[in-house]
Amino acid sequence: TGMFTYDSGFLSTGSCKSAITFIDGDKGELLYRGYPIEQLADQCTFLEVAYLLRKGELPNAAQKDEFERSIKNHAMLHDQLMRFYNGFRRDAHPMAIMVGIVGALSAFYHEAMDFSDEEHRTMSVYRLIAKLPTIVAMAYKYNMGQQFMFPRNDLNYAENFMHMMFATPCEEYKPNPVVAHALDVIFTLHADHEQNASTSTVRLAGSSGANPFACISAGIACLWGPAHGGANEACLNMLEEIGDVSRVGEYIKRAKDKDDSFRLMGFGHRVYKNYDPRAKLMRKVCYDVLGELGLENDRLFKLAMELERIALEDDFFVERKLYPNVDFYSGIVQKAIGIPTSMFTCVFALARTVGWITQWEEMITDPEYKIGRPRQLYVGPARRDVPDMAQR
Ligand code: CMC
Repeated sequence: TGMFTYDSGFLSTGSCKSAITFIDGDKGELLYRGYPIEQLADQCTFLEVAYLLRKGELPNAAQKDEFERSIKNHAMLHDQLMRFYNGFRRDAHPMAIMVGIVGALSAFYHEAMDFSDEEHRTMSVYRLIAKLPTIVAMAYKYNMGQQFMFPRNDLNYAENFMHMMFATPCEEYKPNPVVAHALDVIFTLHADHEQNASTSTVRLAGSSGANPFACISAGIACLWGPAHGGANEACLNMLEEIGDVSRVGEYIKRAKDKDDSFRLMGFGHRVYKNYDPRAKLMRKVCYDVLGELGLENDRLFKLAMELERIALEDDFFVERKLYPNVDFYSGIVQKAIGIPTSMFTCVFALARTVGWITQWEEMITDPEYKIGRPRQLYVGPARRDVPDMAQR
């Protein structure tokens, strides 16, 4: 059956060629289409970054305008899809709702199946980028037992998300521009990260020719786990559990104990063996948002800073090159903004949808692409005969 290499966890297997995102894990460098994440976060909006990721170049003013208009045009959900929410328990985890709703988009846009047509592909990409904030916000409203808020075209992408999350029909709502900008930066920092578990899942699902909505739903399912996108939620739960700066030492000790499965959530990364550049930017966003909202003395933020300080001085973490990752600070920012803990991973999914769909499109337009089919090392019993019932 031919030779292959056993590589559990894909530590040394490159699964594809890609021109989208570059990571230098030793330097702590992240580039989208060659541009450093620091410059993009500082100078571009998330939708400009989305355009860049897909098209390979930043949009000029006219292209930006047209792209933003197209996204706004598709932000609404079909009424039947809105009624689909009612099938979930009211306390359903919003990630469970997202897996379902995004997968269900497949049932609404049949032309998405024919993705060899560039126009159809473009429509699917626009629909996903446009509808994800609406889907996330409606999951939140559903959990809260509040009326869905429809998207507003006079607001930008992040402001509109805040409006759909936090506005109610009874009162005037104006998104705080500093907070909206911080949210936009969070989206940019999460937009793509080359062949991580969820992106690889999207590619593997897409390699069979499955439709893009089904593939993104698979990516959302994979992102949910606490070793991946679920880490921001797990990190905040951990900070709540630690509760007080005086208990940080105890938890650091647990994280180092081989017999204890506890890990410091928001710490460590498969590729970054230096400070995660996204975490550095997120830390600054955290300062900005807490400052704007007058929460500089936030208990959890102080706790996080102390945890980081102690861990970065501890030999165990230094030797293993364990630094805070993007999820370490993103939860604190989101909590300060008023996003509940269970929604953190949904916000990650909203932003990463841009990377997933870009990677999906790169794959299916690559003339060399084949169905993904990993091999295995079989360790089960050798051939044997089925015994009669009396002999079992
Ligand atoms: N706390 C304590 N020890 C850790 C941690 C941690 N967070 N992460 C790794 N280690 C130790 C681990 O015990 C092992 O030690 P030893 O060599 O003595 O056995 C060593 O560091 C290497 O760990 P590994 O599990 O082999 O590394 P990996 O590349 O397979 O795992 C990881 C990477 C991100 C899954 C892991 O660091 C982890 O579980 N971190 C916590 C969860 C987390 O924050 N995930 C978010 C990742 S970034 C954003 C995203 O992908 O969503």
